[in-house]
Amino acid sequence: MIRQPICVLLAHVDHGKTSILDMIRGSSIVSKESGGITQNISAYEIPISEIKDMCGPLLKNLPNMTLPGLLFIDSPGHEAFTTLRKRGGSIADIAIVVVDIKEGVKPQTEEVLNILKASKTPFIIAANKIDTVPGWRPNQNKLLVKNLSEQSESTSLYFEKKLYELVASISSKGFNSDRFDRIDDYTKKIAIIPVSAKTGEGFPELLMILSGLAQKYLEKSLKIDVKGPAKGTILEVTEEKGIGKTLDTIIYDGSISLNDNILVGVSEGEPIFTKVKSLFRIENGKLIKSNNVHAASAIKISAPNIDEVSSGMPIRVIGKDRDKSIEEIKSEVEEVIIETDNEGIVVKADTLGSLEALVNLLKQKNIKIKKAKVGSINKKDIAEASSEENKLNRLIAAFNVSELESSKHIKVINYDVIYKVIDDVEEWIESQGKSIEEKDLEGLVKPFKITVLEGHIFRKSSPAVLGVEVLSGTAKTNTYLMREGIRVCELKALQDKGENISKAEKEQQIAASFPGVTVGRQINTGDVLYSDVPEEDFRKLKKLKKYLNSDEIETLKEIAELKRKENLTWGI
Ligand code: GTP
Ligand code: MG
Repeated sequence: MIRQPICVLLAHVDHGKTSILDMIRGSSIVSKESGGITQNISAYEIPISEIKDMCGPLLKNLPNMTLPGLLFIDSPGHEAFTTLRKRGGSIADIAIVVVDIKEGVKPQTEEVLNILKASKTPFIIAANKIDTVPGWRPNQNKLLVKNLSEQSESTSLYFEKKLYELVASISSKGFNSDRFDRIDDYTKKIAIIPVSAKTGEGFPELLMILSGLAQKYLEKSLKIDVKGPAKGTILEVTEEKGIGKTLDTIIYDGSISLNDNILVGVSEGEPIFTKVKSLFRIENGKLIKSNNVHAASAIKISAPNIDEVSSGMPIRVIGKDRDKSIEEIKSEVEEVIIETDNEGIVVKADTLGSLEALVNLLKQKNIKIKKAKVGSINKKDIAEASSEENKLNRLIAAFNVSELESSKHIKVINYDVIYKVIDDVEEWIESQGKSIEEKDLEGLVKPFKITVLEGHIFRKSSPAVLGVEVLSGTAKTNTYLMREGIRVCELKALQDKGENISKAEKEQQIAASFPGVTVGRQINTGDVLYSDVPEEDFRKLKKLKKYLNSDEIETLKEIAELKRKENLTWGI
């Protein structure tokens, strides 16, 4: 049997997610008995017969449908999508990304695209609010493509411009896309369906593409053993009047019955073992008491011993092989929880799914992670981060968690928007890295070279005072100088027009004092003297090359060559 695909709507705030669902729901008159309690999350199961009705004349494009229907999950905020994880991906079989055609791709749309990419979830794009395109003439009786072709020239131009911008933004996220009717191969391009949740235009096309894609490309993955033990993910733990704590759960495989023994994953230790005390389907915002429910569906479970359960955790009916069920549920949690001895930052998130999304996005940015766990920021996390040798790792990147502990030695980045966490982490690492490097650089002897000028001997010795010109780099006082790889003397002080200065730039001609040498003996006019860069400093400078100019890099090379005349392996 093929179950109905789980379809999740994702969008930037106000782009019309709920309105689209309302339109789909409104035109499908599903009247079912009700338990009478309204829900935060809801699932809307639209049977295939109703989808076919809504597709109208487009129905001919949907032959051989074996899908029983579509299960839409309506949940507040797109974080719910990240919570809806299962092993190796999302439990959403397909997603609709809603974009306001006039506003285009916004930060949260970008984040959604990144997450869809990381979880490899197929999706289509609903370019919503086409009725707001200037001059738009709505016509619900015509097919969308025909209606589009009959708009005024200026409206068409505006529309195409917006569509083009949308295609470009989506392409910058690494996806090819196009208007649905211009696509030959839906496996290669993401379909954009222009719609209006106000007029209903584009909805037959949207539902046709959605169910057509699901039927064609997801058929295999939707095959389930209805009698098998249920597998699902906990979307939310909610308190119900008269029932107590309950688990709002999406079941994507198998079936679950009253009194079934179940296992629920936890972030540490053995999974929770419990039993289904009461069972409800969540349909159209109502609870319907049931004895048995099979995938795909949204259900509410009441069970004892679930105080420790958190959102995003896997749940299972225990199969014939109990140990195997336990092992499976544990590994499903462990693949997200990272705990190693290696270096890296600490990552915390409110649910297993958001943790996985955060970890994946940080990994894409090549940020090393030492530990990733579900839950608040606690003493242990602070201690863990403080113990990092590399200052750049003394960071906790967190998504939507409370901070029970803090420390001025640790940077904490904690937001309820994933992309903000990622952006700030990158920015912090970069700026922090730069300031650490700049500090390191301060303490090093930098490469420079000077020459002793003819006819400017102000004093022959104790100390020798001579006119010099800086040939490259920045000459600094209190720096030892060398010639041909051998130390000659110290550049003690510099004077420019009678004023003491601490450094001089390239091409500057100044007076320099050299204690302990005598002109004509250790030092002569015409001499070229280099800063005597210590071997250790040389190695560090090579790593900090980006802070040196091309002259300094060249001079550093010359210094190494001179040094290697004396010592073949100098600086290596
Ligand atoms: P959040 O749940 O807050 O993220 O928003 P949402 O994505 O669910 O958007 P919602 O459906 O609440 O729509 C936001 C606003 O846009 C509402 O005022 C809708 O009436 C309006 N709206 C949605 N779709 C359309 C449309 O196609 N045309 C017009 N003109 N307005 C729309
Ligand atoms: Mg909404």
